[in-house]
Amino acid sequence: MSTQQASTDVHARPTVVHHPSPSGTAPITAERYVSPEYLRDETERLWPDMWLFACLERDVAEPGEYVVFNVGDESILVTRTEEGTVGAFYNVCQHRGARVMVNERGWVKNFVCPYHGWTYDRGGALTVVPDIERFSGGVDCEARSLQPVRVGTFSDMVWICMSPDAPPLEEFLGPLIDILEPYDLAGMTLVADQTVRLDCNWKAVIDNFGELYHVEHIHPQHELMFDCPTAQTDLYENGHTGVLIYGHTVNTRLPVSDTPTPYLKHQLGMFGLNPDEYEGRVLDIRADVQRVRREVGASLGYDYSAMSDVRLTDIEQYNVFPNTVVTVQPDDAIIMRSRPHPTDPNKCEWDKLSFHRFPDPAIAKAAGVEFVPFDPTDTPPAERPEHDVFDQDDIIAGRKTMTRTIDQDIHLIRDVQAGMRSRGFDTAVLCDDESRVQHYHDWLNHFMSGHR
Ligand code: FES
Ligand SMILES: [Fe+2]
Repeated sequence: MSTQQASTDVHARPTVVHHPSPSGTAPITAERYVSPEYLRDETERLWPDMWLFACLERDVAEPGEYVVFNVGDESILVTRTEEGTVGAFYNVCQHRGARVMVNERGWVKNFVCPYHGWTYDRGGALTVVPDIERFSGGVDCEARSLQPVRVGTFSDMVWICMSPDAPPLEEFLGPLIDILEPYDLAGMTLVADQTVRLDCNWKAVIDNFGELYHVEHIHPQHELMFDCPTAQTDLYENGHTGVLIYGHTVNTRLPVSDTPTPYLKHQLGMFGLNPDEYEGRVLDIRADVQRVRREVGASLGYDYSAMSDVRLTDIEQYNVFPNTVVTVQPDDAIIMRSRPHPTDPNKCEWDKLSFHRFPDPAIAKAAGVEFVPFDPTDTPPAERPEHDVFDQDDIIAGRKTMTRTIDQDIHLIRDVQAGMRSRGFDTAVLCDDESRVQHYHDWLNHFMSGHR
């Protein structure tokens, strides 16, 4: 071990409170995770008023392509209309209430209800009622068209809102749009589409992604590539939160080794830097990668012009209230989303969409780049990956993975839920590093008490 000094003091980056919750700070009781009544209240008071990440715009690129987004007991049909706009409708037939589309994704000429064949065009208009003359009272086709919900898009993400009175998407997300747009999600390739069924409340897993306090305890590999103790936390209006973590470095709360860790050696190699030159200089790696990545990126066809230097080495994560988590790095992104079970507070579904920006081989070849910044076998998938749905036990048994780090989280999350159901547990107590969790729940209180 050396006497290398950390470039920052531990905990030198304070929490930045952009907007406190109007509800103030309140205890986080077990009830909100385990009570069926609380789950029902969320259905009534929370979900209808929120902007929710529904799907990727690339999945509804052409007229007639559709995605069904299920959240709790609600189902929303997102599609591309003939006019080229993104449309969203309640996925419910206006004849007698059947679900119109039951497949989660596809392409149709028209939406045809599987029950009696009522047919809606791509804009949701009711166009065919079989044997309409048998409705002696007539059918008001306009009134019986699919019921629309509001749609907003940014950076390849489609968001829906069931309330006509909620503020526009741009207002709800606030600064997060400008923060996330430079990462150009639309320019990344979708490499995995996964859902795991979890035995926990939908908020327990959101909480897990709202703090770094557990990282040193259950993700020991992080100390070899990130400096979590110096992360900056941001608390935004409407319950959104963010965290910025130094990458291409090590945990500076622990003794810093003379030799770059295996992770850092790999990262240095990706950028053509010699690990031997960083003997005793491990904490210089981050700044050097920032400099080199910009040059190397250009020769591989990457455009980092919208990126600040820190974004070339660091990792940012934004928890978009109430149920979406977006993690971004220059060439990688993950969107995760928690969806409640319709009736059981002890169950949820956790979606993960993984993205990667692949280098342009032609540009790299023309530039004479001899190394590649990723595994050479790491080529873009020929087709959009299938949606892979599995159980928590598949991860625990090693049959499925959502990355080592997320697997580690998933291993224990149902035991957290089980503990919260115990007579022996009442209220959480949070440390300063868990301020994002408190902020989230304070805004949850705000919205659940009827405020908008
Ligand atoms: S419920 Fe859809 S056609 Fe009858
Ligand atoms: Fe974790």
